[in-house]
Amino acid sequence: MKPDASDFDLQSALTDWRKLADQALSQALDAIAATPGCPAKLAEAMRYAVLGGGKRLRPALCLAACRACGGDASKALDGAVAVEFVHAYSLVHDDLPAMDDDDFRRGRPTCHKQFGEALAILAGDALLTHAFEFAARIPPAQAAVHLLAQAAGAAGMVGGQVNDVDGQALSLEAVESVHRRKTACMMEASVGLGALAANADEKQTEALTSYAAALGLAFQIADDLLAHEGDASELGRPTDSDQKQDRRTHPRLAGLDASRERVAEIIDEALESLRVLGPEALPLRALATFVARRAEGSIDD
Ligand code: IPE
Ligand code: IPE
Ligand code: MG
Ligand code: MG
Repeated sequence: MKPDASDFDLQSALTDWRKLADQALSQALDAIAATPGCPAKLAEAMRYAVLGGGKRLRPALCLAACRACGGDASKALDGAVAVEFVHAYSLVHDDLPAMDDDDFRRGRPTCHKQFGEALAILAGDALLTHAFEFAARIPPAQAAVHLLAQAAGAAGMVGGQVNDVDGQALSLEAVESVHRRKTACMMEASVGLGALAANADEKQTEALTSYAAALGLAFQIADDLLAHEGDASELGRPTDSDQKQDRRTHPRLAGLDASRERVAEIIDEALESLRVLGPEALPLRALATFVARRAEGSIDD
């Protein structure tokens, strides 16, 4: 019988990937902190923003994509650091009073609550900048840097954040466009850097990219679903921050059931994209199943 995602022990794989990623992230932060001229409090705020919580989903995608293309996961560690640095910076800035104005993240005070707004903004700036240093270690460097810049930049994550904050996404289509840019683009970059590290061919890279585009969209809808606790017969009750910002989320527009169905549909698309890859893609199938279960509410982080 063909192995399927349920045969794969995702929890232990996630733990392994997380360990590998945390080690690489910690080393990267140590090296930055040890550079003469780096203020100790900046290094501390950067470390706080990156470590001490978080699922390391993007590093996992980067490492698993590399493996799925026959590469050794250790080759993708610089890519894993690059995408998690961008992710951590995006969360620090996302939590600021000018944006979502959140006081807690990963079960502790947000970076600006802990270190003040100026240092939090600057820690985010430094993480974004150093992300490119790590991306450039993946050959060919020009392709790696281009890929990360497109995903994180104006037509990618930052563009999505702009349209999320401006609250103009009034249709489901517009909300999904925001999700694709603010969340899915960085997941595409994660598998993209993994694919580069494995010297993947075009067909493999295309398959991984459409997988991550679908996974990212589903992940953001699942995230909004988790934030909308409440009676399944009603439209979701938004979290404080969504309510404060009058954010148009998928469940607020479509309703909880329709959003859950949409996640299932998109996850099927993600799995379909993986068909051209061999059994080495099993961990990626398992990750997609994980996101689907998250949307059903059976996983709460
Ligand atoms: C949170 O991402 C922001 C979204 C894109 C929904 P994660 O849920 O991956 O955050 P951490 O890294 O695990 O904290
Ligand atoms: C987080 O988005 C930031 C990015 C996706 C870049 P959200 O505002 O939707 O996520 P949480 O709820 O703060 O984690
Ligand atoms: Mg936000
Ligand atoms: Mg937020």
